[in-house]
Amino acid sequence: MKPAMMFQATFKADPDDVLLASSMKTGSTWLKALCFCIMQGNKEEEDLLVKDNPHFHVPIIEAVNYFTNTPADPYTMSSPRLLHTHIPYSLLSDSIKNSDNYKIIYIARNPKDTLISMWHFFNYTSGYLEDPFPLEKAVECFCNRVHPYGPFFEHVLEYWEESKKRPQKILFLKYEDLKRDPKKEVAKIASFLEKPFENEEDLEKVLWKCSFERLKNLEVNKSGSLFNNIPNSTFFRKGIVGDWKNHITHEMEEQLDKFTSLKLQGSGLVL
Ligand code: A3P
Repeated sequence: MKPAMMFQATFKADPDDVLLASSMKTGSTWLKALCFCIMQGNKEEEDLLVKDNPHFHVPIIEAVNYFTNTPADPYTMSSPRLLHTHIPYSLLSDSIKNSDNYKIIYIARNPKDTLISMWHFFNYTSGYLEDPFPLEKAVECFCNRVHPYGPFFEHVLEYWEESKKRPQKILFLKYEDLKRDPKKEVAKIASFLEKPFENEEDLEKVLWKCSFERLKNLEVNKSGSLFNNIPNSTFFRKGIVGDWKNHITHEMEEQLDKFTSLKLQGSGLVL
């Protein structure tokens, strides 16, 4: 809470900042890697993703001072700052909300895959591996709007609505679109960041550098850890669309689908 409140009260938006935003387990790590590489451009320097996990390079604003072993400090980093937050749009600092051109990239994901990804993550990080938290209870929590950083749909919809009002400010992405047509989506990100690719080869290089298979198998992500000793490997589980089908019963599916259509009706958003 403390760093989040400090951020809200004191953060000064810089016009060169790029803020990545997401609810948990929606593809933030992938988005961080992609934007980090795009912003680095074509510099033939060492590949920094080999040295450190994407979370190291793109600090979570509200995690500063809380997690040990954290990367750069958002308050002293040099410009252009690439930052990340899980905080809902309505709770961002006024300095960001009042700026028309502040750049935010939001990533959303299908609620059932998000829920399953999170269930695995918390079973692992909270020591429930042997005896997993009952999935039906997790579904119930989700439908009762009990969710890290606030209810899932409110989180997504706040950014969605704002992205419709101010498309120059918020680029709204979906994990499933990135998986289905990565070239198109990554080119979109690069244009939004005003760093369009000069050629197809550069685009493919970034896609490869940030691909699930590559990142998952880097030594730093197999054996390293971040954030109070959470293993980096927990950020790379399956990386697929539709894994919920392997876990969610027909009854849970119906419950979640009903809740989803209720929350998204009239928004024009399909997840
Ligand atoms: P799964 O648990 O479904 O595998 P976050 O980064 O927001 O915590 O989200 C984690 C999810 O993104 C995990 O989903 C993880 O496997 C997936 N992921 C991480 N890196 C990825 C990449 N490079 N490409 C595709 N998916 C990725």
